[in-house]
Amino acid sequence: MFNFFRMGRIFVGMIGGGTVGGGVYQALCNNGGLITSRTGVEIILKQIAVKAFNEPRPVSIPESLMTTDWHNIINDPEIQIVVELMGGTGLAKEIILEALSRGKSVVTANKALLAAYGEEIFAAAEKNQVGLYYEASVAGGIPILRSIKEAFVCNRFLRICGIVNGTCNYILTQMNENQSDFETVLKEAQTKGYAEANASLDVDGHDAHHKITLLASLALNSWIKPDSIYIEGIRSVTLADLELSNKLGYSLKLLGSIENRGQDKSSAKIQASVSPTLIPLNHVLAKVNGVFNAVSVLGDVVGETFFYGRGAGQDATASAVVGDIVDAAINTSLKTPHRLPPMWLGAKVDLVAIKDITSRFYLRISGTSETAKDFQAILNKNNICVEQSKNLNSEGTIHFSVITQTLSRAKISLLLQEINKLSGLLNKPVAYPVEDFN
Ligand code: HSE
Repeated sequence: MFNFFRMGRIFVGMIGGGTVGGGVYQALCNNGGLITSRTGVEIILKQIAVKAFNEPRPVSIPESLMTTDWHNIINDPEIQIVVELMGGTGLAKEIILEALSRGKSVVTANKALLAAYGEEIFAAAEKNQVGLYYEASVAGGIPILRSIKEAFVCNRFLRICGIVNGTCNYILTQMNENQSDFETVLKEAQTKGYAEANASLDVDGHDAHHKITLLASLALNSWIKPDSIYIEGIRSVTLADLELSNKLGYSLKLLGSIENRGQDKSSAKIQASVSPTLIPLNHVLAKVNGVFNAVSVLGDVVGETFFYGRGAGQDATASAVVGDIVDAAINTSLKTPHRLPPMWLGAKVDLVAIKDITSRFYLRISGTSETAKDFQAILNKNNICVEQSKNLNSEGTIHFSVITQTLSRAKISLLLQEINKLSGLLNKPVAYPVEDFN
């Protein structure tokens, strides 16, 4: 039996008592004793700021713990850690900057805020020599940020790619397995507490884009501007795309990817994107279904590693938030609140411009047999080499797909402009990258 040095009590204030806030409250109530027995630190959740006392909540919180004024938390000198779970990029930013300026450490799950204002917020943590923890902002319950930052500290990252939006993965899985329609499955994801308040953040790829921005910046030691990362969501994915991908030997997933295409260590050339992507059926990422997330990390020392777990939902996210609260509490107790900077910034990174990102591509049109012939004529005229092709026929419509040789995004976008002009199209033609993990 180990005898822990008792580090005492650390008081925590939380902003937000909704799905994740309720999960954090519940996890601390149920497992607070376990945390103390493992770390020597006793975490006291002193106050929770909410919009209104009588709002419906997935987990009920005693009224005595709640306040409707977040200033009560920021102004309380006993509270050393502020947990921001309200979301959004307005008031949440103000609260975080205020907490940091008062020397309080901050725990947040707010990926949209960090992707938009990360540089300013990380600088504020640095200036005030306090901690900023954001494990829950990427891939829910999977400890991917801590692994990249601490466990893999001796690695240069050659490739990080993953399924980082639970809602999109849930939608694509349900569509593929049950032939369900997009809108019905999206409603289910919202009911289960996976989706963002504004579902466009999920289905249009923004949420995954925020997470890839943070992962890329952390892995590359440099703030990667969000607009240098290609983004495309899943709105144009049809049941035919899912079936055709399977027939071609792939699974179609919303994949975030950061790849070093440089020839050696001194010439890193990074291409980063979020896009529906074809993944070989025999690759482990192709088997990640439902709300689960997974991230594959290839480091120059460790080789390939794989992380898998729930990417959204009350308890998975709460687990990551509580892990950060405990880390912050230990660091605060030991008087090293700024033990590690939230992110190392300042390295020079050679990013491939979006138009120059290259890949093999899956192209699909849906229309009449005449449309399919005209599509083939465009491919021939543009010297597109068809490596594989498959088609589906249903109710007089032909869904025709090909996989091309390696092309740039600039070339693909010109091709799509031409293909979009074809007559007889049933819906929008699509072009998605094929990831071969070479
Ligand atoms: N809406 C997000 C998702 C929540 O579906 O992944 C977790 O970040």
